[in-house]
Amino acid sequence: MRISVPSETDPRESRVAATPETVKKLSALGAEVAIQAGAGLTSGVTDAEYAAAGAKVEPDAAATLAGADVVLTVRRPAASALTGVARAAAVISIMDPYGADAALAELAHAGVSAFAMELMPRITRAQVMDVLSSQANLAGYRAVIDGAAEYGRALPMMMTAAGTVPAAKIFIMGVGVAGLQAIATARRLGAIVTATDVRPATKEQVESLGAKFLAVEDEEFQQAQTAGGYAKEMSREYQAKQAALTAAHIAKQDIVVTTALIPGRPAPKLITADMVHSMRPGSVIVDLAVERGGNCELAKPGEVFVTDNGVKIVGHLNIAGRLPATASSLYARNLLAFVDTLVDKEKKTFAPNWDDELVKATLLTRDGAIVHPNFQPKV
Ligand code: NAI
Repeated sequence: MRISVPSETDPRESRVAATPETVKKLSALGAEVAIQAGAGLTSGVTDAEYAAAGAKVEPDAAATLAGADVVLTVRRPAASALTGVARAAAVISIMDPYGADAALAELAHAGVSAFAMELMPRITRAQVMDVLSSQANLAGYRAVIDGAAEYGRALPMMMTAAGTVPAAKIFIMGVGVAGLQAIATARRLGAIVTATDVRPATKEQVESLGAKFLAVEDEEFQQAQTAGGYAKEMSREYQAKQAALTAAHIAKQDIVVTTALIPGRPAPKLITADMVHSMRPGSVIVDLAVERGGNCELAKPGEVFVTDNGVKIVGHLNIAGRLPATASSLYARNLLAFVDTLVDKEKKTFAPNWDDELVKATLLTRDGAIVHPNFQPKV
């Protein structure tokens, strides 16, 4: 069984799909692990460290992929980049499958079994494989660090001989995995933290982290969580009430971090242009939802800019990738935990149980076809 880790082909991707720690453990499963030379450098891992962990460092992508039974990457590779892999090899990545019909069709055509890590069910057994959580947690942390770096003032209250510096006010909108870590980080940095969400369960979580909860707590709010634990899209009436409540609050904030998402829908618009214009010059908005359309009307994907009233709007993409070493180490462990379930430990071969719920939930393509029910080609 050969497990191959080529370099990421997107130049904006700084993470890598294996670390020396996971190379050792993959080798212990009976695999020969091949790493493309230089694949780990942006995450601070050298070829020598991979080699010391037992990997075979290959000079280029073709040599890395030759004869691969399993290919591990961060982002979905193009089918054309997979030449040389075994027919029916597994490709395991963050596949970003929505709206990627042509790319999925090509992967199917190449014969590979493509697994989308972000479709892993959120059940206890699969927590260790949950890439959405491992990466969102880091994104929430980094969003506050980015916000603090862009903010021209200190966050904690300081009493100095030259006078008192007031504590910064930070408002977190959306309290899922990223938002909870954002609250914890902002509190550690000494800010006065408030947070909002539409799911009632978040109220207690926010308060247990020492922040103040702010939300329209009407009947619709009581029903806003789906059985899967996600938010529903709120009615126009609720959105109007929510905007009225948050507008006055946002005007008084120094940093606002937004993380609100609804599965399969564009991100809810929570900060209008008027709200941005109500904020003081020098305040900062960090929009983590910018890749999904943004929570702030003015945020631009991949851009950091200052509005005409002096508010800085931060729209970095791939925020977890701004902490590449930590993000890679957690992502690589998520992959290792999943690969461990796909291997026959006695025969030391790649032998997935195609009926396993984790396999069924994540498998996009197999034997030349798109097999996932949610991504069937439209007739
Ligand atoms: P997400 O990334 O889908 O959304 C982020 C947050 O935005 C959510 O808290 C959501 O309620 C909020 N939101 C949506 N619309 C909003 C609006 N209009 N205004 C304000 N906030 C809004 O969520 P994430 O982080 O993926 O977590 C979703 C759920 O999954 C949570 O209940 C979490 O506890 C649960 N979870 C369960 C796991 C497990 O059982 N293994 C692992 C990780 C998360």
